[in-house]
Amino acid sequence: MTADSRPRYAHLTGWGRYAPAGVLTNADLERMVDTSDEWIVSRTGIRERHVAAAHETTASMAAVASLRAIAVAGIDPADIDLILLGTLTPDYWMPATAALVKEAIGNTKAVAMDLAAACSGFVYGYATAQAYITSGMARHVLVIGAELLTRFLDYTDRNTCILFGDGAGAVVLSASDERGGGLGIELTTEPQGAYMIWLPSGGSKSPPSASTIARGEHYIRMEGRETYRFATRTLATTALAAIEHAGLQPADISLIIPHQANVRIIEAVAKGLDLSMDRMFVNVDRYGNTSAASIPIALAEAANSGRIKVGDRIVIVAFGAGFTSGAVAIEWTADPARGALGEAIPPEAVHVRPPLDWDSVDPIPDALAEILARPGPVPLDLSDVVPGEPEPATHPALR
Ligand code: ACO
Repeated sequence: MTADSRPRYAHLTGWGRYAPAGVLTNADLERMVDTSDEWIVSRTGIRERHVAAAHETTASMAAVASLRAIAVAGIDPADIDLILLGTLTPDYWMPATAALVKEAIGNTKAVAMDLAAACSGFVYGYATAQAYITSGMARHVLVIGAELLTRFLDYTDRNTCILFGDGAGAVVLSASDERGGGLGIELTTEPQGAYMIWLPSGGSKSPPSASTIARGEHYIRMEGRETYRFATRTLATTALAAIEHAGLQPADISLIIPHQANVRIIEAVAKGLDLSMDRMFVNVDRYGNTSAASIPIALAEAANSGRIKVGDRIVIVAFGAGFTSGAVAIEWTADPARGALGEAIPPEAVHVRPPLDWDSVDPIPDALAEILARPGPVPLDLSDVVPGEPEPATHPALR
């Protein structure tokens, strides 16, 4: 990879998402910990979250979302010259999960690396991609957020296990001299929040051992109230800074796509920016918090459901462990109808090469195994079903 010409803009040309078929509802969680659907919905807005199956990994979910984003962008996977993957749940400590995705999508030339900024990972990746493009170091960058959080949750801890879910989202950013794409960026890191959301063991400070496992130190731990305070204090100011860097005002923004952690946090962002809730995109009810995947999943849903049109100014804004936060004000230039090209790609189209001679243990936590084993919805092809006139009533009472 070498620097050459310097385009001025990085347009968002492709978007894609993937959510595993397994679903964990609040009613399921009521059977696992002392909680209630009423508590979860009123305190967080979450109703259900997706759970990856045993054969799925962060890389496999990321690869599906990536191929979908690449199809929407109308380029070949081989055209991608940089892959950035934000995750706190990589397949392995090494190699980078981005390298596995590179192989799975059939790309040979890209530089591929992971980016660790927890829930802000996708926005940090977006900003990094933009810097590569505008410096002339890359022309087409794949930015991914992908998480498999349900394997790192303590299903006896009601403070955390109700919040998180699995999934992946991706975008393609492409170089252009025409105005558009990310116009203003703001990123922050506040290390005084370092131990507010963390995963204590498994790293070099506290390597895995029988005692770290016995003490449950490989699960996510969180100080919910402190994190909530940071999020409500920071998200609106981070978004506002990105909007101002773009030379805009909040009133110019047609849609804010915030990190989907808690609907009350999203309401606080709307209040902080003096915008109504109809300008905020919300899907936390169906996904829970998917960390780095939450914004690219929401962005793909927003584009595919008609919430974004060409010329709109939108803002993506995240916060996460670290504490980190980041926002990008984006001028949208792609035809949203292209989203259908991505949705048409089936998950079966993707294969991540497994390691040679290495069988991993069953990755599904015991607490989830029973729920995942239950029969899912039967896929019905309804494409050639033509709705007809209802049959005339035959029951005597209806004549
Ligand atoms: N069901 C029932 N009761 C519960 C549950 C539950 N699942 N969880 C906590 N409670 C109880 C608490 O024990 C507490 O009881 P107490 O008053 O007897 O002590 C009571 O409910 C209130 O607890 P709070 O923590 O004050 O509840 P709060 O309204 O703050 O909501 C929540 C908790 C939802 C975790 C909120 O603080 C929050 O959303 N924080 C931000 C979390 C977040 O976004 N984390 C992700 C960061 S992103 C990343 O990088 C991974």
